[in-house]
Amino acid sequence: MHIGFAGLGKLGLPIALAIESKGHTVVGYDPAEGPREMLRTRRLAFREAGADALLADTRIEMLSLEETVRRSEIIFVTIQTPHEPRFEGVTRLPDETRDFDYAALRAGVADLSAAVEAVGEDRIVVVVSTVLPGTIRREIKPLLGPHSRLCYNPFFISMGDAIKDFLNPEFVLFGVDDDRSADVAEAFYRTIHGAPFRRTTLEEAEVTKVLYNTFISTKIAFANTAMEICHHVPNADVDVVMHVLRESRGRIISGKYFSAGMGDGGACHPRDNIALSHLSANLGLSYDWFRCVMEQRERQTEWLADLIEAHRHGRDIVILGRSFKPESNMVTGSPAVLLENILRERGLAVRAWDPHVDTTAPPEGGPFCYFIGTRHPEFQRWAFAPGSVVLDPWRYVEAPADVTVVPIGRGRALSS
Ligand SMILES: NC(=O)c1ccc[n+]([C@@H]2O[C@H](COP(=O)([O-])OP(=O)(O)OC[C@H]3O[C@@H](n4cnc5c(N)ncnc54)[C@H](O)[C@@H]3O)[C@@H](O)[C@H]2O)c1
Repeated sequence: MHIGFAGLGKLGLPIALAIESKGHTVVGYDPAEGPREMLRTRRLAFREAGADALLADTRIEMLSLEETVRRSEIIFVTIQTPHEPRFEGVTRLPDETRDFDYAALRAGVADLSAAVEAVGEDRIVVVVSTVLPGTIRREIKPLLGPHSRLCYNPFFISMGDAIKDFLNPEFVLFGVDDDRSADVAEAFYRTIHGAPFRRTTLEEAEVTKVLYNTFISTKIAFANTAMEICHHVPNADVDVVMHVLRESRGRIISGKYFSAGMGDGGACHPRDNIALSHLSANLGLSYDWFRCVMEQRERQTEWLADLIEAHRHGRDIVILGRSFKPESNMVTGSPAVLLENILRERGLAVRAWDPHVDTTAPPEGGPFCYFIGTRHPEFQRWAFAPGSVVLDPWRYVEAPADVTVVPIGRGRALSS
């Protein structure tokens, strides 16, 4: 295929070389002298594994933007979205935080769109640059003319290994605004590798991209918390502890406990974290990770209480499910009970009922504001009172048309 690039910097140029290595014809536009010089001298100004061999044989041409568009079916946009040095993580955390700087990306996309309109034919414009969720639709899409077919395709690539990572990814994340373009892009990626092609909305791709990185940060922070504990506890070696945890493929390194819903519960986890917060203070750990985990759980539950207040419009509140997990009758450490307590603390009347816990009949009357506190299978098609609203943090409830379901965690659909 004929592939174009707008931006041939530290990400764009290695990826362009990787794509060319699979037999595609690659051209590019970059206003800076650096990429031209690197292609002329066949030497990168930065370290990139495997680049030298590809550079030796490359036929990548740098062209004007319009000529790049004319000669390309798909154009990858790999223009910088920089941050100020104080947001780099090498100095103390600033009080103020900020979005990335989209000025160069916006200018580049506007110029690209003008070139696509000048050519007068449809082109698939694949933005790769890292952005915060919501940016592509808000800041980039409005810059595009009718012939630009927009996609957002963030890469999961570590610098220095960009070529290897691009050629052997875990998956391709593809935020789609136009299905036909996604079909073409998927066919293109099939020529590169057999990794899964994950089609999402633009926004889901944006959220996944940034959370992927945050998950890595979270793993590292967790391991480093383990290191501090082991440094203080006699006869404890963090490498032994982390080895055991890493090898726990059933629950720890797996998809288990990795779906959104209510907070963690049960007879062990919350109380262990609270006790560990005590240990953290006793050992003088630099940061109380355990309190942080419990505070997130509590504040999320507060937020769920806010949602109930916002959606109930005078209806009585019924929490369906009190046990800490589906089909259990245990309420110890249950986040549903925490929610009930928080609502009562706010002076609200709450009825909470669980078919696995209570021997009484379910609340009668209505209409109610139901909240599904436990993902019991029987609540999926429950006989909700007509005119009720159901807040569903599990996104599994199916209700008749006279009941309004609010699937928590599913943003409303935008049409443009
Ligand atoms: N792991 C990843 O997925 C990953 C890795 C690295 C970078 N990125 C993201 O990719 C983007 C690019 O990063 P980078 O490190 O290659 O930046 P970079 O600064 O090295 O390269 C950007 C290139 O774009 C060029 N450019 C600027 N304006 C242009 C325009 N109007 N038209 C065409 N080209 C233009 C610049 O001259 C430069 O060569 C950033 O958003 C970055 O965050 C993602």
